[in-house]
Amino acid sequence: MRGPTVLGSPANTGGGMRGAGLIDLYPIPSKEEDVVSGFIELMHADEVPPGAMKAVELDGHELLIAHVGDVFLVADARCPHLGGHLVQGVLVGSVVTCPRHHSQFDLTDGHVVRWTDWTGAVLTIGELARHPRPLRVYESEVVEGIVMVGAQKLPIATP
Ligand code: FES
Repeated sequence: MRGPTVLGSPANTGGGMRGAGLIDLYPIPSKEEDVVSGFIELMHADEVPPGAMKAVELDGHELLIAHVGDVFLVADARCPHLGGHLVQGVLVGSVVTCPRHHSQFDLTDGHVVRWTDWTGAVLTIGELARHPRPLRVYESEVVEGIVMVGAQKLPIATP
């Protein structure tokens, strides 16, 4: 199986700084799938500083890795609203804000904190066209300094 590819290397910190966007595109040389656990290597943990986010591509699927506290959270890299690239957004704690219309998602479980920053009739029409939906998030763990991704977590219902 093809290994993950790093898509972005933003200078995003937990202090709310905006990411620098897509920078490098290079393959990660070591990638193994743990056949027993089903977890797949994504990248070295020390490549994602505390408070930062990076995106990797795994078999054509873009994933976001966020270093929050002492854990690494993994989610889809694209916003479920209209596909904004979340690694270019802002990470504060475990909540990422999309750079396009400022929807917010909690990376621990993917629930919608805010669905766009629209208000009034624009929000109503927008929600009719695109009902709020959670961000897909995945099980993750760090093994010998490597961030690994596992199965998708159960989706959180969105009212
Ligand atoms: S694309 Fe993310 S909020 Fe619209």
